[in-house]
Order: sequence, then C-alpha cells, then structure tokens
Amino acid sequence: MKTQRLSYLLVLALCFNGYYAAVPSIGQAQQPSAQQSKPAAGANATSNESTSDGKQLRSPDVVYVPTPYEAVDAMLKVAKVGKNDVVYDLGSGDGRIPIMAVQKYNAVRAVGIDINPERIKEAEANLKTAGVGDRVRFLNEDLFEANISDATVVTLYLLPSLNLKLLPKLLAELKPGTRIVSHAFDMGTWKPQQTLKTNGGTVYFWTIPAKGTPEYNAAAAAANKT
Ligand SMILES: C[S@@+](CC[C@H](N)C(=O)[O-])C[C@H]1O[C@@H](n2cnc3c(N)ncnc32)[C@H](O)[C@@H]1O
Repeated sequence: MKTQRLSYLLVLALCFNGYYAAVPSIGQAQQPSAQQSKPAAGANATSNESTSDGKQLRSPDVVYVPTPYEAVDAMLKVAKVGKNDVVYDLGSGDGRIPIMAVQKYNAVRAVGIDINPERIKEAEANLKTAGVGDRVRFLNEDLFEANISDATVVTLYLLPSLNLKLLPKLLAELKPGTRIVSHAFDMGTWKPQQTLKTNGGTVYFWTIPAKGTPEYNAAAAAANKT
C-alpha cells in the first residue's frame, strides 16, 4: 500500500511538472535552457560510481524532475533569502535553486548536493553560464551523509517519505532559525508555517525550532513517525 501511494505521488509530481513546465518562468533568459529543464531520461541509472574523493555512490532515492522557475522564485522569496544566507539544495538537479539564490537573491553562498554525477556536470555547466562562479558549489554526495551544518536555508524537492527520513538530520544538524522550504511535499504531522500555491506548484515553509520548545517536539514527533 505504502509503495503504491509513493508511486502515485511520484507520478503526480511528474505530471504536475509536465504541466507547469509550459508556464513562462521568471528571468528565464538568465536561466538554463528549456531543453535542460526537462526531466532527464535514465536519471535512476547511477549506481556504483565513485566521487573524485573515492566515495562509493548508490542509486538516487528519487528521479530528477526540475522545480519550475516560478516555484523556485517563490521558495527563495518565502525563505527571505538575502546577503547573509548560505543556501543548500539537497538533491540539486540542474542547479537552478543554488544559482538563483546567489544570482537573484544575493545569498553569500549556495551549495547543491546531488548523488547523480550527470546532474552535477549539468549544474556546473549552468553555473558557468550564470557567471556567479565561486559563490556556488556543487557536490557529488549523498544528501543523507553531507555536512549541511552551515546552512541558513535548506531547499528540498524530494518525496514525502524522504522529507520525513531527512527530518531527524535537519533537526540534529541545523541551527535553530534555519529555514526549510520544500516544493510539492510536506513533512507529515509537522505543520508548515506557510503554504503557498504558485503556478509552479505548492511550496511549504518551516523554521528549525529551538530544542525543548513545543514546535521542536512537534517536528521530532513527525520524524519519529517514519
Ligand atoms: C526531484 S529532483 C529535484 C531537483 C532540484 N532540487 C529542483 O528542485 O529542481 C531530485 C534530485 O535529487 C537527487 N537525489 C536523489 N537521491 C539523492 C541522494 N540520496 N543524495 C543526493 N541527491 C539525490 C536526484 O539525482 C535529483 O537530481
């Protein structure tokens, strides 16, 4: 049943993105080309590859589907990304979120983490075109193992089950006040502070609470339900 529900959600996400891809995006001229925005065929094909530092990689937990630019813009806006922010996109695809965070929202740094080396190559090519150079880095790593402790904003477009699997790491490693934004998928019983319906999809927003607060307990309880 659970597997069926997840497959359904994934198909839904793919369909929605197919639909929203037709909507003109904000600042498209400065963004990766329309062709690069299409879901990549065979995105699941990566396994047993190794990173430059020799780490063994496994298959992605979710296929690549890009967040439409309008939703990317809404995600960065609702998180109030600005010049003091370090933005991490966990599962960064073609790099559009880290690139926009620096290019349009002036984040001091942004990091994209993706387990698929093809996505990293694509993101690095897009970074070159964007001309924001050394303020954005793409790391070919497993998001569940990456060091994200210096993030002030974390962006996600994964799956409901992956959001919940990730939640204990977010609570353990991120400073209170760090903003979390997810495209399309919520965090179960941890209710978002804001939910925005955009033409590019639904965006959910939370802030990492301080330990011992009722908000922290609510988030921890949601994480325990995985
Ligand atoms: C739905 S796409 C989202 C791409 C981008 N964040 C966006 O919103 O446009 C999910 C991405 O997560 C990556 N991914 C899946 N499992 C991962 C893992 N365990 N660690 C890092 N990246 C992963 C996939 O390769 C894919 O590029």
